[in-house]
Amino acid sequence: MGELVIRGQNRLSGKINIQGSKNSALPIIAAALLTDEAVVIDNCPAISDVFHMQKIISRLGAECIFKDGTMTISAGRLSSAPDFEYCRQFRASSLFMGVLLSRTGCFVMPYPGGCHIGSRPVNFHIDGLRKTGAQIEETGDEIIGYCGGLTGGEYVFPYPSVGALENIIMGAVCAKGKTVLKNCAMEPEIVDLCCFLTRMGAKIYGAGGKTIEIEGVEKLHGCRYTVPGDRIAAGTYMAACAIAGGNICIGGIKPRRLDAVTNILRKTGCHVFTDDKTDEIIVLSDGRRKPVAYIRTGPYPEFPTDMQAQIMAAAAYFSGSCRIWDSVFENRYMTAYELKAMGADITVDTDGVTVRGLPGLAGGRVKAHDLRGGAALVIAALGADYTVVEQCRYIERGYEDIQRDLEQLGADIRWRHAGDGTEESEFL
Ligand code: UD1
Repeated sequence: MGELVIRGQNRLSGKINIQGSKNSALPIIAAALLTDEAVVIDNCPAISDVFHMQKIISRLGAECIFKDGTMTISAGRLSSAPDFEYCRQFRASSLFMGVLLSRTGCFVMPYPGGCHIGSRPVNFHIDGLRKTGAQIEETGDEIIGYCGGLTGGEYVFPYPSVGALENIIMGAVCAKGKTVLKNCAMEPEIVDLCCFLTRMGAKIYGAGGKTIEIEGVEKLHGCRYTVPGDRIAAGTYMAACAIAGGNICIGGIKPRRLDAVTNILRKTGCHVFTDDKTDEIIVLSDGRRKPVAYIRTGPYPEFPTDMQAQIMAAAAYFSGSCRIWDSVFENRYMTAYELKAMGADITVDTDGVTVRGLPGLAGGRVKAHDLRGGAALVIAALGADYTVVEQCRYIERGYEDIQRDLEQLGADIRWRHAGDGTEESEFL
């Protein structure tokens, strides 16, 4: 683990290929346990969340090899109890509820952990699994589930939760009957999971829409699947270009998945060109950033909450004021305080933040407190004089190597590892 040292004000240029999607890879790795045959997952991102997932499935009894971006998983016999310590550190551990009910008929696990971005209950996961045939008890610090085979059923999500939908789909694919899910999340990562499960033999209809129907099948089989590019990593670099100015091309990304981000960046004065045939996005920015008065995050296809901190970083440089409200997670504004420490003019209140843009920031020594907030500090630093971002282990949860990518685009950014003898003055 180290810190990133960034000297800003270099314009960006060049091309990068984007890593595989974190939020697609994690449920797909969990879903690979639904068969005892071998599953091969290509373009799997080498990020710490994936390594963590690998540890959990290995402890559950699966054989898992991850080499050169390809993960091979064979899940013969499985335990019903994932490692408590690993689960407590990790939100995506909740994804094993549906899988283990389907494969072993029961599970016992703690409440999942993860980045501190607001309250993250699992009540929809539990209610939905109950509606599809599971018995679930909560003991205060454990969740225990069992069933004599899931039956299927109907569940209407009170809110379109991504993780809860993924969990319930994974439980339903081998249920004895049909499952109908309404008010579903429509995120592209749901589509990716369903494509993967369909390749394993599942029968799923309507993925990407509000209603999904699943006909349970007796058995799933092994398959090979390529994880699509990460829309949030791509969006982070698009926002980086808006801050630093320049001309960049991002390859390996389906542009339509970023329409909400593209629309906002165009309003700021960036030129964004997309090519659905080659899966490329080109961003041109002259570094003059017009203000966007109001940005609200919401479920897909609205502006993603996972891009809220990065757009706040960009708004710190707008030529006017911007109001930002995160309607998905109520407490996702911690990055505002770190941006203020870099010189940004931001007011945080109970309903969001108001950012009054400035022509430049001084930078300083700041800390990442969560994954996307950490990435936001790094891209904010591209327009500032000199910045050190500490606690980059949070960033490593979701970005293979943000330093590698931004350096390839021309940024002056270096890793500094604790005790490597490099003095701060070397970079001044
Ligand atoms: C996933 C993503 C995360 C993204 C989020 C929203 C992964 C691994 N993570 O997280 O990066 O920020 O979607 O796009 O894919 N809720 C409940 N009860 C529940 C479940 C959710 O009240 O049982 C609420 C949450 O508190 C939140 C909202 O629903 O306010 C959306 O959460 P959800 O979509 O479930 O997020 P995650 O799946 O955890």
